[in-house]
Amino acid sequence: MIEVENLHKSFGEAHVLKGISTSFEKGKTNLIIGQSGSGKTVFLKCLLGLFTPEEGKIAYEGQVYSELSLDEKRDLRQEMGMVFQGSALFDSMTVEGNVMFPLEMFTKQSRSEMQDRVDFVLKRVNLIDAHHKYPSEISGGMQKRVAIARAIVMNPKYLFCDEPNSGLDPKTAILIDNLIQEITKEYNITTVINSHDMNSVMEIGEKIIFLKDGFKEWEGSNKEIFKTDNAAVTNFVYSSELFKKVRQMYLEERN
Ligand SMILES: Nc1ncnc2c1ncn2[C@@H]1O[C@H](COP(=O)(O)OP(=O)(O)OP(=O)(O)O)[C@@H](O)[C@H]1O
Ligand SMILES: [Mg+2]
Repeated sequence: MIEVENLHKSFGEAHVLKGISTSFEKGKTNLIIGQSGSGKTVFLKCLLGLFTPEEGKIAYEGQVYSELSLDEKRDLRQEMGMVFQGSALFDSMTVEGNVMFPLEMFTKQSRSEMQDRVDFVLKRVNLIDAHHKYPSEISGGMQKRVAIARAIVMNPKYLFCDEPNSGLDPKTAILIDNLIQEITKEYNITTVINSHDMNSVMEIGEKIIFLKDGFKEWEGSNKEIFKTDNAAVTNFVYSSELFKKVRQMYLEERN
């Protein structure tokens, strides 16, 4: 569980996050949606402790981040997994090397323990034959799977994903979304995902925060988002012609 209270973040004159309060539950896929530039990545980086907010609080299982000692912050950071926009794999390392990296950096596990864990997570994301391939030798969808495997290799309590399915075809994008949701449930992780993909909203939007110009404009579930009358949300949701037609049909049916 992550609780956020009145979060503000600025860069010089630019006030990017303007008093965001919300909470993200365990075992749920929480989505942050909003137009490009609305503050999604900045918000996620605050949750990761990479940006320090000027005002407000973030609490992880009740522990307020700003009140922790350096050691406690470091321990907490090791309970967080991150899938960056564009996968961000190390090009010069094999798939196996990429996934093993956090274990080598942060644990004192033996070679065989690390190998077992790497084999386990790669199998979990359905990558069986790719251990010795380099990122450039595998498809975009496979690269995302590697990034997810690397993010969960340390058994995180919190998983943050920035546009995990950008650049993928719609079918592969849904597979990746579903994989993240399955893993979230299986290991009871508090997962927060940035997205501007309506397919993700429909598939895995158990809780959705809609950001607009740095404000939390709306929050709710994927069941509620199609019923809201909030103009900013409906504009976002029905920005494609397809969704406009779906909305039209829904309204006609209701009347
Ligand atoms: N390190 C930084 N320094 C200064 N301004 C920043 C920094 N990072 C982000 N911003 C600004 O904060 C605003 C929000 O950016 P952010 O990257 O969070 O948007 P986003 O919602 O993730 O957009 P996208 O969907 O395109 O990824 C933008 O105006 C951006 O220019
Ligand atoms: Mg972003």
